[in-house]
Amino acid sequence: MTAVAALPVVRTVPDLRGRVAAWRTEGLRVALVPTMGALHEGHLSLVRQARREADRVVATIFVNPRQFGPSEDFSRYPRREAEDAGLLAGAGTDLLFAPAVEAMYPPGFATTVSVAGVSAGLCGAARPGHFDGVATVVAKLLLQALPDVALFGEKDYQQLKVIERMVRDLDIPVAVRGVPTVREPDGLALSSRNAYLTPDERAVAPALHRVLAGIADALAAGRGSAATLTARGKAELEAAGFAKVDYLEVRDAETLVAVETAERPVRVLAAAWLGRARLIDNVPVPSR
Ligand code: PAF
Repeated sequence: MTAVAALPVVRTVPDLRGRVAAWRTEGLRVALVPTMGALHEGHLSLVRQARREADRVVATIFVNPRQFGPSEDFSRYPRREAEDAGLLAGAGTDLLFAPAVEAMYPPGFATTVSVAGVSAGLCGAARPGHFDGVATVVAKLLLQALPDVALFGEKDYQQLKVIERMVRDLDIPVAVRGVPTVREPDGLALSSRNAYLTPDERAVAPALHRVLAGIADALAAGRGSAATLTARGKAELEAAGFAKVDYLEVRDAETLVAVETAERPVRVLAAAWLGRARLIDNVPVPSR
């Protein structure tokens, strides 16, 4: 085991299991916060919530090659473990699990976890195979650490629903918690990929949240259908400077099935391109 900025770091599954098993014999409750690093306040809010829910917090940093498409940003995804470890320690993390790719996917690795239904459409349509990669790595991390609770940001809302479904379907004994999105004062959702934005693009980026919030308010007030509001919203995003809108949709908050009105809890979700950055965001529709 090594230590970075006073935070113990393990890189193998036996070392991780050894640490967690020792806590278990003391009767301690364990939380897991999976990340890909390049941490920001959104990740740290997961750690702080984890601290409130458990006696010990394990964070993971693993840039998972299986959730990136061939033309996506795997190789240029920001990697800064030492800085991240300092942030995690400051937020109350007890242990960092940062395995190498070969430790997670040794030669001969042949299993893919695929969650039908909630993985389809939205980011699943724009990024084929992405949620298979997410479900596979999260299943592994949960089974490696066997935490009592695991925390994920609501910013990746479809990911959260995929993980909830997988945990239910596979009877993985863990409570999954979604934690609200942390935003800049102008509404932009914090994301590691915001680092790709130029200053001009950064000035445009808050339009994404503004448009989503406008649609949510209109739906809550019964001012228009999902189809009309999202068509107008797409035009607004393109006029603001977004090069391409992958999707802007209104979905049932639990099943992610498309809906036209907000009779049940619904969510407005979008993904759109600004320069090299693909931004995603979502908001709940306030209940009527
Ligand atoms: O949200 C992320 O950072 C990743 O998708 C996750 C859950 C850590 C799996 O690689």
